[in-house]
Amino acid sequence: MIIFETERLYTREMDHSDYQRLADILQDPEVMHAYEHAFNDEEVLSWLHNQLDRYKQDGHGLWALILKETSDMIGQCGLTYQHFQGESVLEIGYLLRQDCWHQGYAIEAAQAAKRYAFLQLGCKEVYSIIRDSNIASMNVAIKNGMKVRGRDIRHYYGVDMPHFGFSIRKDEFLGEKNSATP
Ligand SMILES: CC(C)(COP(=O)(O)OP(=O)(O)OC[C@H]1O[C@@H](n2cnc3c(N)ncnc32)[C@H](O)[C@@H]1OP(=O)(O)O)[C@@H](O)C(=O)NCCC(=O)NCCS
Repeated sequence: MIIFETERLYTREMDHSDYQRLADILQDPEVMHAYEHAFNDEEVLSWLHNQLDRYKQDGHGLWALILKETSDMIGQCGLTYQHFQGESVLEIGYLLRQDCWHQGYAIEAAQAAKRYAFLQLGCKEVYSIIRDSNIASMNVAIKNGMKVRGRDIRHYYGVDMPHFGFSIRKDEFLGEKNSATP
């Protein structure tokens, strides 16, 4: 079932048959640079199970991002709850296979995820929480109309990683929509 679609892409829930396609992404050290290490098989499976649990509990999670032209899974994009400055916030996340970078797919998917968050889920604010060294991801968030709202430290694999919380609020989103209409 399609969750949301754009001109070139659509998202759907992942299942166990996506394990290898997911491993190809999460086991690439370049893709996982911001997470400090590429995942082993167990971590890929646990990541997949996390998303399956989120689909059941929350009705959303990181979905498979599919290129319409080839029906290939080129990455993940979706909406998950994350902790930021002591609160639970809804986050747009995106991770793409390396051979698919720099073709505008992340921003195309992130903009559609933002529309889904505001128009389907009715949320008031949506975030992207990004490690302070991840320029590519920050550029996607900025292009998605988000502003920096604060900073937080996340602890992954024994490392303290400063993150910026980018977000866009519903009134700003509605302003974007109105200014796009002549
Ligand atoms: C971040 C990521 C999803 C970007 O994907 P992408 O499809 O290449 O991004 P897009 O082509 O949609 O680019 C959107 C904007 O970001 C900018 N951008 C993309 N990659 C960039 C890079 N390496 N350095 C600087 N800017 C970059 C683009 O220039 C573009 O802006 P522009 O149109 O004004 O030029 C991809 O690099 C990725 O999967 N990285 C690893 C996983 C990750 O870090 N995910 C985010 C975790 S918070």
